[in-house]
Amino acid sequence: MISFQVITLFPELFREFSANGLMRRAVGEGNICLETIQLRDFAINAQGQVDDSPYGGGSGMVLRPEPAKRAIETAKSKDPSAKVILLTPRGKPLKQKVLHELADHCRAGNGLIFLCPRYEGVDERIAETLVDEEISIGDYIVMGGELPSMVVIEGVARLLPGVLGNSESIEEESFERDRLEYPQYTKPQEFEGNAVPDVLLSGNHAAINAWRTERSGRDTWMRRPDLPRQAPKPAVEICAALVHYPVVDKRGDLITSSITTIDLHDISRSAKTYGLSKLYIVHPVRALRVLSEKINDHWSGGFGLEYNPNRSEALEILSIVPNIDDMILDIETRTGILPELVTTSAKQTSGSCSVDDYRAALALVEKPQVIVFGTGWGLASEVLERADRHLEPLYGPTDYNHLSVRSAAAIMFDRLFGEVKGA
Ligand SMILES: C[S@@+](CC[C@H](N)C(=O)[O-])C[C@H]1O[C@@H](n2cnc3c(N)ncnc32)[C@H](O)[C@@H]1O
Repeated sequence: MISFQVITLFPELFREFSANGLMRRAVGEGNICLETIQLRDFAINAQGQVDDSPYGGGSGMVLRPEPAKRAIETAKSKDPSAKVILLTPRGKPLKQKVLHELADHCRAGNGLIFLCPRYEGVDERIAETLVDEEISIGDYIVMGGELPSMVVIEGVARLLPGVLGNSESIEEESFERDRLEYPQYTKPQEFEGNAVPDVLLSGNHAAINAWRTERSGRDTWMRRPDLPRQAPKPAVEICAALVHYPVVDKRGDLITSSITTIDLHDISRSAKTYGLSKLYIVHPVRALRVLSEKINDHWSGGFGLEYNPNRSEALEILSIVPNIDDMILDIETRTGILPELVTTSAKQTSGSCSVDDYRAALALVEKPQVIVFGTGWGLASEVLERADRHLEPLYGPTDYNHLSVRSAAAIMFDRLFGEVKGA
């Protein structure tokens, strides 16, 4: 039997907790044993004092070390190999992985002792000398360690043998494989006009599994940018464009900028790395387009190919076009769908879409997308005005915001399509 001992000023809170649902069954069947230790029993005086004002001043009271130490020693005398856990917002964030580590410790026959402070917490010397792990249940504050310890106890208990009964359901769950679970549906088949997805009624298990895998990946991508994630494969083409006309100069005058070879190389390498289908170079001057094609040929067919073959792989996605309309026509002809223009700028514009929101939306877009970057001092207003979406600027922690277009493109691609591998 696994022993959980909780040191608290409010033992009665744990009575209901262990008298209901699966916790009750786990206790009843002898899988776990939950005991409370009244902290007040170790008070420093007959008045039952357990706390004191903080050194250095400040509001609130702090749990004194003597009662905490004596309570922990009492718990330890019953279960010497138990781990002592302090619930504190300063602790390591609770994750499913932490629960598994604690459950492993319990499966090896060791218990857990939870110290639940109230008010301003416990004297730091207890944390330093008697506590094995400090755990926070999240970036918010509740009134005491009791609820946080219940969260940990329930989370660990359900991983212990015999408590849930069905270990398969654990493997499928959110966070077990660094992703959210797929959405669940039950009867009725139709509820207030909303039907259950057809595939779940099909009886085709391969199709159901494929749907669940796709939804789990897509929802993780959209909802939890902090989790290791894999970019969902959008159903449509995602392209980028580097526009040399119409753009503005530093006075805001309309200009045509020159083609910079390194932009072509670097942005196509970034675009290829992040899975974009095409990089359009928009330039109205024929001679410059011809020159760019020539440079491109050098790398994709000439000596450059021999010298550095993987450069040609990146440059293969390059298309050099005279204007934005030709680019749109090219995409429409190839895909059969009019693409959406998504413009970028270093300047804050009202109504712009956050990069995070666009990243999430990308999982669901139904039209081809072109992420448009301007050269010079940025895209002219006539391009911005025809955009379907305008992305907010990229920011660092400074006021300086003059990224080169190839850096901006690389950072933007990473924010939108970058994958995070699990540990
Ligand atoms: C009001 S809180 C003290 C917060 C403390 N002054 C701070 O700012 O970190 C009182 C107690 O509730 C518990 N507690 C509150 N929020 C918690 C959280 N997110 N995770 C774990 N324990 C928490 C801790 O035991 C804490 O000592």
